[in-house]
Amino acid sequence: MNVTDAIKQRRVVHNFRSDPIPDDVLYKIIEAARWAPSPFNTQPWEFIIIKNTDTLKKLAQCAPTSKCDAPLAIAVVILPITAKYPFHQQVGEPEHAGAMAVQNIMLAAWELGVGTAWATIEKDKVKQILNIPEEFDVLTIIPIGYPMDEPSMHEETDRMPVEDLMNFEKFTGLSEGRIMVY
Ligand SMILES: Cc1cc2nc3c(=O)[nH]c(=O)nc-3n(C[C@H](O)[C@H](O)[C@H](O)COP(=O)(O)O)c2cc1C
Repeated sequence: MNVTDAIKQRRVVHNFRSDPIPDDVLYKIIEAARWAPSPFNTQPWEFIIIKNTDTLKKLAQCAPTSKCDAPLAIAVVILPITAKYPFHQQVGEPEHAGAMAVQNIMLAAWELGVGTAWATIEKDKVKQILNIPEEFDVLTIIPIGYPMDEPSMHEETDRMPVEDLMNFEKFTGLSEGRIMVY
């Protein structure tokens, strides 16, 4: 699968089969994560692999807007880079880098026929459940599993048209019909 196909075909998956993810597949997914870019190549991330069903249930309760019934989940832990790179820390770059690692995870998983989602989480509760130190952040939990149903293709209208997103030389305002809620 080429990169463009993976980018355009990937769907968020909410319903997963209970079949386990083989270790070699999991390894390939984390292998993709580690090649994400990061400020000064600090690689400010750790990945917690969760398969324990009790822990998965507890985590699901920390994600009120997500469906987390996957056989496996990856918690993305973000490490601070304050001491060496305070400016980059202050503008939030460890989290930006973590989000790039998540995209790599999602695309690599998709290529392997594995579905993923981004769960928005109550961070303090998740940190407590997973024993994550206070000074670290937890970005998201990614439920991972084989999709229950064949994921549907995106409609072209699922995204804004390219021309509506482009501004030239300066910010020239939002295109007509763009709905933004501030
Ligand atoms: C930062 C972020 C937060 C998200 N939070 C949730 C969430 O809480 N619950 C959920 O079901 N999906 C969540 N999603 C997934 C989006 O709803 C989904 O990506 C979007 O609807 C587009 O669908 P697609 O990924 O299939 O193209 C999140 C995605 C991102 C990037």
